[in-house]
Amino acid sequence: MAKSVSLNVNGKAVKVNVDDPDMPLLYALRDNLGLHGPRFGCGLGQCGACTVHVDGKAVRSCRVPLSTLKASQKVVTLEGLAKGKTLHRVQEAFIAEQAAQCGYCINGMIMESAAFLAKTKNPSEADIKKALANNLCRCGTHARIVRAVKRAATVA
Ligand code: FES
Ligand code: FES
Repeated sequence: MAKSVSLNVNGKAVKVNVDDPDMPLLYALRDNLGLHGPRFGCGLGQCGACTVHVDGKAVRSCRVPLSTLKASQKVVTLEGLAKGKTLHRVQEAFIAEQAAQCGYCINGMIMESAAFLAKTKNPSEADIKKALANNLCRCGTHARIVRAVKRAATVA
């Protein structure tokens, strides 16, 4: 029997009806709420394509069962990162550096970087590489991605 699960996504209280409350958050975001920023890559927590923020922390939504989330926890997806029409500094920097080829990994790169920069001032290149070490890009766009995160770090 379908069960209603309450979530807070991109600043709004929402309910999703699911058959299995242990379903991954990623599926609810994409399939129930139509938020296609987070991508399905590996489904195993290994690639980072599905990354979202939960209470400001970057998490892999393919590995978060809905049943583990409280309605008060703030889930933010790529769609909720901008403030109105003002893009987040990391989004601006990725555009400025043209840091995407196919774009499949970019949701994860941006969400991971935004959470990283929120708690790390003036990161070194090594810090940035370490922060993104577990986000995979099959197109080999790493150099541009690192440049974009460096650029974003210079914007207050
Ligand atoms: S799809 Fe979630 S980490 Fe790969
Ligand atoms: S830009 Fe294609 S996987 Fe990263």
